[in-house]
Amino acid sequence: MAFKILLTGGLGYIGSHTYVDLIAAGFDVVIIDNLCNSKRGVSDRLEQVTGVPTDFVEADVLDKAALAQVFTDHNFDAVIHFAGLKAVGESVEKPLQYFQVNVVGMVNVLQAMQVAGVKSIVFSSSATVYDPIQPSPLNEGMPTGYANPYGYTKLTCEQILQQACHADPDLKTGILRYFNPAGAHASGLIGEDPNDIPNNLMPYISRVASGDYPFLRIWGNDYDTPDGTGIRDYIHVADLAAGHVKSVQALLSREASHLVNLGTGKGYSVLEMLNAYSTACGRALPYEIMPRRAGDLATTFAEVGRAKQLLGFSATRGLDEMCSSSWHWINTGAKLVSPDG
Ligand code: NAD
Ligand code: WQD
Repeated sequence: MAFKILLTGGLGYIGSHTYVDLIAAGFDVVIIDNLCNSKRGVSDRLEQVTGVPTDFVEADVLDKAALAQVFTDHNFDAVIHFAGLKAVGESVEKPLQYFQVNVVGMVNVLQAMQVAGVKSIVFSSSATVYDPIQPSPLNEGMPTGYANPYGYTKLTCEQILQQACHADPDLKTGILRYFNPAGAHASGLIGEDPNDIPNNLMPYISRVASGDYPFLRIWGNDYDTPDGTGIRDYIHVADLAAGHVKSVQALLSREASHLVNLGTGKGYSVLEMLNAYSTACGRALPYEIMPRRAGDLATTFAEVGRAKQLLGFSATRGLDEMCSSSWHWINTGAKLVSPDG
C-alpha cells in the first residue's frame, strides 16, 4: 500500500510543486491549507497536472480540533510541514503573529502527530538560520543565528524538532534549509503567486516582466561582489520538490534524522538574474539602483555535499530553466487563476 503523507501549506509555492512530485513517486497525499497566501484554484490545477483528484481540506494549523479531525480521518505515515508565514519585513512589524503561526503551528502539528503515532516529519527551514557573519559556502555545521523574528521562528522550530527527537527516539525529522527558490512547474499551471506585493527578487522580477510593475528596485550596487549587487543561491522549485521526496523517503526507510541545505552551491547576482529573465521574456527589463536594504548580506550560497551524501540530492536545473519556467507560468498559467479562485 502507498505511504500517506500530510502536506500542510500544500497549496503554496513550494508545497504545490512538492505535491506533484509526491504523486508521481506513488504517494497518497492530503493537503491542508488555510489559503492565507494561496488560492483554492491551485487544487484544481494540481488535479490537471497529476490527473489525480486533489484531497484538499481547508484548515488552519492553529485550529487544533481541525488538525485532530484530519489525523482521525487519515492514517498518515509522515507529515511535510510547509504552512507558515515567510515575509521578513512583516515579521518585524508583527512578531507575535509569526511566533503564533510558525512556532505554535508546528507544535500543534507535532502534538497531533504524537496522538496519532506518526513518526516522520519534514520541515521547511531556511538559509536565514545561519549566523549572518558566516562566510559562504554555508555548511550545516556552522553556527546559527537570527536577524529578525522570521529567522527566529525557523531556528526555534529546528530546536524544538531536535528536542522532540531527543524525547522520542522513534521520531525522525528532515530539516531542510532552503536557499532561494525560483522558477515554476514546466506545465505553466502552477508557480509562485503571492497574495501581496512580493519582497523576494524572482517574483518581483516576474511582475516587472508581466508589466504589473514598471521597474525593479535593486537594493544596492556597492557590495563587494563582481557587479556590486547581492549574490544568492537560487534553486529551481522543481529541484526543491525532488529534495522533499528524497527527504521523506529517507525518513520512511527509518534512516536517521537529517538536517541539510537545499541549494545549488552556486550564486548569481541581482543583475545576472535580471539579465537572465530579460532573455527569457524577450525584452530588457528596467531597473533603478536604490540604497541597500537593511539586513541584506552581500553573498550567500550553500555547501551542498551533505544533501548529496545523506539523501543523494543534487540540483540539476540551471538559471535559464528557472527564468523560462517562471515566465511560462506568468505568461500563461498565472493569468487563469482569478483573485478569489
Ligand atoms: P507560501 O506562502 O507560498 O506557502 C505557504 C502556504 O501555507 C500557503 O499556501 C499558506 O496559505 C499556507 N499557510 C500559512 N499559514 C497557515 C496556517 N496557519 N494554516 C494552514 N496553512 C497556512 O510559501 P512557500 O514559499 O511555499 O514556503 C513554504 C515554507 O517554506 C514556509 O514555511 C516558508 O517559511 C519556508 N521557506 C520559504 C522560502 C522561500 O523563499 N519561498 C525559503 C525558505 C523557507
Ligand atoms: C535576493 C537578492 C536583494 C528584491 C529572503 C529571506 C530569507 C529566505 C529567502 C525564507 C538580495 C535583492 C530583492 C528586490 C532586490 N526566505 N533584491 N530587489 O534576501 O536572500 O532572502 O528570502 O526563508 O529568509 O530573507 O532573498 O529574494 O529577498 O533577495 O534588489 O525587489 O535580491 O537585495 O540581494 P534573500 P530576496
